[in-house]
Amino acid sequence: MTQSNETTRRWLRRAGSARLEFGADYNPDQWPREVWDDDVRAMREAGVTIVSLAIFSWARLEPCDGEYDLGWLDEVMDLLHAGGITVDLATATASPPPWLTRKHPEILPVTRTGEVLWPGARQHWRPTSPVFREHALRLVEKLATRYADHPALVAWHVNNELGCHNVYDYSDDAARAFRVWLRERYGTVEALNHAWGTAFWSQRYDDFEEILPPRLAASHPNPTQQLDFKRFSSDALKDHLRAERDLLRRITPEVPVTTNFMVMGGMNPMNYADWAAEVDFVANDHYVVPGPQARDELSFSANLTGNIAGGEPWFLMEHSTSAVNWQPVNVAKKPGELARDSLTHVAHGADAVCFFQWRQSRAGAEKYHSAMLPHAGTDSDLFRGVARLGERLRELAPIAGSRRRRAAVGIVFDWESWWTAEQDSHPTDRLRYRQEALDWYTALLDAGVRADVVPTGGPLEEYRLLVAPVLHVVPAALADRLAAWVAAGGHLVTTYFSGIVDENDHVWLGGYPGALRDLLGIRIEEFGPLLDGESVALDDGTTGTLWTDRIDVTGPDVEVLARYRTGEQADRAAVTRRRVGAGSAAYVSTRLGPDGLAGLLPRLLGPAGVAGELPAELAGRVELAIRGDHWFLINRTDQPVDLQALPGAPEVLEARGVAVFTN
Ligand code: GAL
Repeated sequence: MTQSNETTRRWLRRAGSARLEFGADYNPDQWPREVWDDDVRAMREAGVTIVSLAIFSWARLEPCDGEYDLGWLDEVMDLLHAGGITVDLATATASPPPWLTRKHPEILPVTRTGEVLWPGARQHWRPTSPVFREHALRLVEKLATRYADHPALVAWHVNNELGCHNVYDYSDDAARAFRVWLRERYGTVEALNHAWGTAFWSQRYDDFEEILPPRLAASHPNPTQQLDFKRFSSDALKDHLRAERDLLRRITPEVPVTTNFMVMGGMNPMNYADWAAEVDFVANDHYVVPGPQARDELSFSANLTGNIAGGEPWFLMEHSTSAVNWQPVNVAKKPGELARDSLTHVAHGADAVCFFQWRQSRAGAEKYHSAMLPHAGTDSDLFRGVARLGERLRELAPIAGSRRRRAAVGIVFDWESWWTAEQDSHPTDRLRYRQEALDWYTALLDAGVRADVVPTGGPLEEYRLLVAPVLHVVPAALADRLAAWVAAGGHLVTTYFSGIVDENDHVWLGGYPGALRDLLGIRIEEFGPLLDGESVALDDGTTGTLWTDRIDVTGPDVEVLARYRTGEQADRAAVTRRRVGAGSAAYVSTRLGPDGLAGLLPRLLGPAGVAGELPAELAGRVELAIRGDHWFLINRTDQPVDLQALPGAPEVLEARGVAVFTN
């Protein structure tokens, strides 16, 4: 089977025994020299092993065009090394200095409405600007040459969170690069015209030079143009990553290169499943957004990151010790949450637990963002909690290097479907791709069943049951692949708005769900999206929102698992399941939410032969994750949980606690 992310992973360049790394972004240039010694002392006290250094230091490293001041960084590198702390050294290209934007304002990004993103914050650069690229690579070369042999250097950190603020740039540079990308993808303008369906609304192009990014238009821009612009924008940043990486690999071939992904929440512009092959090890940043599924979302993101990394250990580059500064209200973490959050990442494969940032800033936009060392200093509950976490990670050193154990259930996660299903001019603009996937994840956690969140390019065939929520984009090859796997005994579950379009966002004709219609044995003539506040009752006691479908059962061996009891589709099938040899293909036509899905799950898990690995009384109260022989039990509740039913486990799992034991 195809596995798109096959790559040789390399972990940090360091001697010594395997361990879980612990640390933070370190910004010594925000502080006077005398603070640095205190920093190293306190880092040692907390058990810090690694820092990400100089991420936003370009203006300090290159104060004027071509003139460098690296002396202070030499000193910091030496100090850290003397303190036994290793360095993930940034290439420092994330935030261009004022002299560069003054001299070359043509590197500034432009929004779809034509506004310039001015300097004054960070990441104000066009991914496709040749001028920016040239200056950035000059700095990378300088740093790589200077620190190639420094004993503290264990990894390179390319830029920072590529695309966090500047992914969609509609400038003339972007327009030029977009055309080059389109020529490569389509070869001829005729092929592009076909893919974009430009017979519609008189959009036919005669020449690639006529094409623009989807800038603010009079009405809905061409959907395939929008989709291709998303693909292109992800690729443009990936290209920047590769440019820095290739230079680093040329100068320091033995030092692994990474960059911090943002597998979290609604952050979808970068297709990380596609990026993963470009780095020596996968690194991720994650921040909790409060809400009823906040902790499940953290687990979901960590799980997906682990699967993007192909099951290999990955590096948690940033999370927060407590509050952040960028939400409308920034709440502090409750006792126990710091360690639980960190260890949930470890449970899903993180071999490094790092934070933004080491010392809480005194000035600037992030001065109210928590850090390992808060404004209050080392005499604080927060710092003591951080030091306890450092100790816990030292005890867990035997876990380092172990792989995630594959689950029986996979939740298919597809960036192309995410991008496409949420575009405008659709049956509803309320659909949230990731939320539907997260709802299934929560329902499985509630049922005590482990699941992997796995990209479409991953080893889908290894799972017994695959849940593919809103698998909207289904190219013929994917449809064939799923059908072959089901025929061989696999159990597929998919939902509303799946199988609808091909890779060009062209509808599969003959009735929905298009590419999956025959496999599912159903046919839908019309969608039935629901208005806000509308819901429909199903005859199994669950309630649907957001969407319904007018389903006709057409195939042999299709069983109706639930029918609509109310609404326009009353008496029609709402949930179906077609038996295909030893396998099956099920369809859920409405949004049931975690509670409704929990009611449905037993009818999907049973026939697939999937059962929870935990005693029934623990299901839902704890999350189970397995790495090698180590079981992680994560308390999902704010109460202690009795574990006596579980051999090998400690007797009690404290409120918000995490138990780790071999099994
Ligand atoms: C990340 C970023 C860090 C810091 C952090 C705050 O997006 O990489 O530099 O800004 O967020 O939560």
